[in-house]
Amino acid sequence: MSSGTPLVVLDHVNKHFGDLHVLKDIDLTVDSGEVLVVIGPSGSGKSTLCRTINRLETFESGSITIDGRPLPEEGKELARLRADVGMVFQSFNLFAHKTILENVTLGPIKVRGQKKEAAEKRALELLERVGVAHQRDKYPAQLSGGQQQRVAIARSLAMDPKVMLFDEPTSALDPEMITEVLDVMTDLAKSGMTMIVVTHEMGFARKAADRVVFMSDGQIVEQAEPEKFFTDPQSSRAKDFLGKILTH
Ligand SMILES: Nc1ncnc2c1ncn2[C@@H]1O[C@H](COP(=O)(O)OP(=O)(O)OP(=O)(O)O)[C@@H](O)[C@H]1O
Ligand SMILES: [Mg+2]
Repeated sequence: MSSGTPLVVLDHVNKHFGDLHVLKDIDLTVDSGEVLVVIGPSGSGKSTLCRTINRLETFESGSITIDGRPLPEEGKELARLRADVGMVFQSFNLFAHKTILENVTLGPIKVRGQKKEAAEKRALELLERVGVAHQRDKYPAQLSGGQQQRVAIARSLAMDPKVMLFDEPTSALDPEMITEVLDVMTDLAKSGMTMIVVTHEMGFARKAADRVVFMSDGQIVEQAEPEKFFTDPQSSRAKDFLGKILTH
């Protein structure tokens, strides 16, 4: 549920890749506690939007603030931002040569300066919450994709992020594993986490999102509550897009 307090604010953000204008004057405010689903055709700029918010990409004009502070350029401040903004990608990006438990404790120990015992205690709570605590001593390759993705979520949460970004977190998973990851995300949404989620999973959007943002060609074309967006899209681009994904 949105609190009405802005947490992530994009103001006239423009980004190019060479000649390609990939984010066109993006204005977007995500309130603390709000769950935003970003949807749109391939190449519309959804991943770039997430990566720009996490400062994995630079941008040329406009501003982005998180909790009132502009995105830092580099150094310590940037490390703190990365901790404040959790990100879960399509590929799970776990450290292959570290155990599940180590994957989750590494950031809190190195970046947040936590003691090993405290970090492990918290990591186990989080692994419990996402249903993989019994796998704590295994290596990522020994887990299913759905389990690895839930570890990736726990690992982000261990940093106590202010906002969590998800970029198509279930699109590399087999159908039976999608639900278990979406269930974890739905619980997280209900717990009050601020979330920006790129996904075409309409069930999740309907259940968990406060707002759906539809992007096309680098622009935010339309935004609405999920029910309204899915049943009564306004723009022809959104109608086209929904027509395509709904007939799958
Ligand atoms: N590093 C890059 N260098 C050059 N062009 C890029 C780069 N990353 C993305 N692009 C281009 O920017 C546009 C937006 O890409 P982006 O990955 O943000 O789209 P998307 O909406 O996430 O698409 P998809 O649904 O396929 O994941 C695309 O035209 C893409 O080819
Ligand atoms: Mg993408």
